[in-house]
Amino acid sequence: MKLLKSKYANIINNKWINSNSTFQVKNPLTNETLSIVSSCTKTQLKEAIKSSQNAFLKWKKLSIKKRSTYLINLFNLIKENTEDLAEIIVLEQGKPISEAIAEINYANAFITSAVNAGLQLKGEILYSHFENKQGHVYNEPYGVIGCITPWNFPAAMITRKIAPALITGNTVILKPSELTPLTALALGELAIKAGFPVGILNIVCGDALKISDMILAHNDIKKISFTGSTKTGKSLLDRSSTTITKLSLELGGHAPFIVFDDADIELAITAAIQSKFRNCGQTCICANRFYIQDNIYPAFIELLHTKIKELNLGNGLDNKTHLGPLINQNAIKKIEDQINDALEKGATLICGGKKYNHKKFPNAHFFEPTILTNCTATMKVFTEETFGPICAIKQFKTESGIINEANNSIYGLAAYAFTTNLKRTFNLSKELNYSIIGINDGTPSHTEIPFGGFNQSGMGKEGGSYALAEYTQQKYVSL
Ligand code: SIN
Repeated sequence: MKLLKSKYANIINNKWINSNSTFQVKNPLTNETLSIVSSCTKTQLKEAIKSSQNAFLKWKKLSIKKRSTYLINLFNLIKENTEDLAEIIVLEQGKPISEAIAEINYANAFITSAVNAGLQLKGEILYSHFENKQGHVYNEPYGVIGCITPWNFPAAMITRKIAPALITGNTVILKPSELTPLTALALGELAIKAGFPVGILNIVCGDALKISDMILAHNDIKKISFTGSTKTGKSLLDRSSTTITKLSLELGGHAPFIVFDDADIELAITAAIQSKFRNCGQTCICANRFYIQDNIYPAFIELLHTKIKELNLGNGLDNKTHLGPLINQNAIKKIEDQINDALEKGATLICGGKKYNHKKFPNAHFFEPTILTNCTATMKVFTEETFGPICAIKQFKTESGIINEANNSIYGLAAYAFTTNLKRTFNLSKELNYSIIGINDGTPSHTEIPFGGFNQSGMGKEGGSYALAEYTQQKYVSL
């Protein structure tokens, strides 16, 4: 382990900046402290913003080609350090090592994706309205962008934001989750090694509310890109009105997972396991509500149960582990509350339903993979984002009925449907009111797609060329 340190500070002006106030980062497997991190003070945050603003004035003048060289340097260093970074993810977040390695590769692919898209960035000339004038449209960077990232993907959600922000000429103040800042700081250290000019990427750690309040109030922060809960997204929206700080929000989801009786059941089960249990159910796009057509309802549940029995809970560093611990005790409480609510309202517990006590790791936040059947639309599992390994299942009869039911949600991020009927496939693609739809596909995300939700799942898109629109604003010049 080369990158993991027992003490960390903020990264401002390419230097480690300590403060007197610190917080602990815990390993969710052992509940032991992994590292102590300095909280960014008000003065340090002001300094960071000033440094990013100064850096912006120079960075925006560089050609995109020149900017891309720094990002490619970072890409190469991340590639060299994949295992080390993946191990930090496992230690602070808990996911299995194979998923952590996949995350580092995913994170790195956002860098090449942003570079490739950035090199294609163009402006426009408008000839339309006057014989003696020409209109030029420039795609300009905003300035300093505040990137606030979550704990469930401690690397990929960072590069998904900072790579397109930087390639388009913005500079970044990155605020990683206080639960998983170590991956961010390790990436920051690699960025310094990659020769990033001073101030283009400052990393500030500590209390999310305090830091977001300060960056929202600061006139030099022109935009905030946030990934996290819908509740926090709404609070950012409320608080952004004083400064009209622009926002990109990638928020919660509540994905319906619909299986029709003409589906390839084996395929649907494999996809259900991938979607539901990736990162132990702690992803915004994971299946949240299962709707199974009545003819295949018993068979689907039986097969799902058989597959779930094969899942191993354990140390993410062990190659045999499929499910690591949940992030913390609050995650366990939330799931227990949803299960109790479902059982009180008449759901049937097929398996799981409680915290798992691992003999070797008694302090870990494990939860047994759970199946609840006979669920109804009023249960919390069918209305609140779960973020845990729970399959809540309800049966349905007709296509039109299930489309209405699936669309009856405040969320609109991802939806899944399984069918071999082509006409139905097109109908579902048109009628499901979700921004990402997996038809016979449980893992629809990759770096180039427009990732971001409809409804209360957010605003704005991340990924590939779509992200460039988030980090540039149009300037019109009439000549
Ligand atoms: C998320 O859903 O939390 C992000 C996962 C992804 O990019 O696939």
